[in-house]
Amino acid sequence: MTEKLIIHGGKALRGEVEISGAKNSVLKLMAATLLTGDSIELRNVPHLSDVGVMTQVLKYLGCDVDQQDDDRLYIQAKNITSCEAPYDLVRKMRASFDVLGSLLGRFGEARVALPGGCSIGKRSVDLHVKGLIALGAEVEINHGYVEAKASRLIGAEILLDTPSVGATENIMLAATMAEGATILSNAAQEPEIVDLANFLNAMGADISGAGTNELVINGVKPGSLHGTTYSVMPDRIEAATYLMAGVGTMGDVTVNNVLPVHLSSLTHKLIEMGAEIEMPSPNSIRIHSERRLQAQNIVTQPYPGFPTDLQAPFMTLLSTADGVSIVKETIYENRFKQVGELKRMGADISVERDVAVITGVPHLSGAEVNAHDLRAGAAMVIAGVMAEGSTQVFDLHHLDRGYEDVVSKMRSLGADIERVPDTSGRPVTEESA
Ligand code: EPZ
Repeated sequence: MTEKLIIHGGKALRGEVEISGAKNSVLKLMAATLLTGDSIELRNVPHLSDVGVMTQVLKYLGCDVDQQDDDRLYIQAKNITSCEAPYDLVRKMRASFDVLGSLLGRFGEARVALPGGCSIGKRSVDLHVKGLIALGAEVEINHGYVEAKASRLIGAEILLDTPSVGATENIMLAATMAEGATILSNAAQEPEIVDLANFLNAMGADISGAGTNELVINGVKPGSLHGTTYSVMPDRIEAATYLMAGVGTMGDVTVNNVLPVHLSSLTHKLIEMGAEIEMPSPNSIRIHSERRLQAQNIVTQPYPGFPTDLQAPFMTLLSTADGVSIVKETIYENRFKQVGELKRMGADISVERDVAVITGVPHLSGAEVNAHDLRAGAAMVIAGVMAEGSTQVFDLHHLDRGYEDVVSKMRSLGADIERVPDTSGRPVTEESA
């Protein structure tokens, strides 16, 4: 039975919330464990359905995977029985495509289903493939699968057309044990790339430059990567979601276990809008506001620009800000699915291609809304706690991919929110974020 959220909004959220480990990092670290036969211990691992899907992928390949009830996850890729990731698993979650670089890097072969597009955009993998070819792999696309082979990859100079997060990761994974150095220019600079590079270095890789637009991966000897214990970075998108829920309800919320620098593009915007922001400790951010926020404009960009993953939740805040705001989405072709739902809650938004114009209304009013994808779902939860009256959010499986314990975390801040069975029989929508 699917479930829904019922939120009685309009209460100021107050208190502190612990942020979990980052979904968009842990999935890549899990893929990276394929590079050694030794046991790996990951800590600060969130309990999310996407972690469950990556676990299925790794088990399918022959890994031992054991997630504990606390935040530990043990993985050992000693007895790999297959180098193929089937479509059934990859289509559920496109991050599983990252096993391509690891399998090719360690075993010299991989057959991984093409993820295809998803509900937010085309999401091609051409740059991943071009990068692997530059490293000397023979790559063919047959029957919906990427088939890659190389007796030994050779380091190369690679320039990405666009700083793709996934392509940077796949190339980095493949190049760790290539012969010689790989120089990857126009690389993605997201904090999750830095986390992956730090993890690989802890396993014995030699990677520098992570966090800048040029990565240098000096290939180490095949078989030389080893086991380690590593703590996953905090989830900057989850942290941002609670900050926005706090300020959107004119409350006072502190997020703990965060790296504030990862959230600079958001906190700068919030300060310009009139929010008060403090750092009570090096790993915490406090936000509060007693006044209605002012309108603001954003353009989504690769890190360190404003993240596309926060565009939908931020639009919820803008929907009640004073004045007219403009949001331009430059990363994905179809990431405004929250708009129709926000309008059902009384927002005044018009969309022309990749630009949304939001005229702030004094308040949102509760309604039945869909979480059309993961971040649109976060936008609906924020809208629900901000709105007057009762909101029901459907299609929660999207939210479960990336938000650990959202109900108990929101309740700890004083939100009136519960999760109950959805008996409406509505069809479930698919997505692979
Ligand atoms: C990661 O996706 C994240 N997913 C996304 O988060 C995030 O939105 C995105 O990075 C950008 O920050 C995970 O980490 C699991 P990209 P990824 O490769 O790696 C185009 C969420 O909500 N492109 O940087 O797939 C592509 O079509 C999710 O948590 C090519 O054209 O992102 C897109 O328009 C959603 N060719 C743009 O680049 C390629 O070969 C950015 O994609 C690769 C990408």
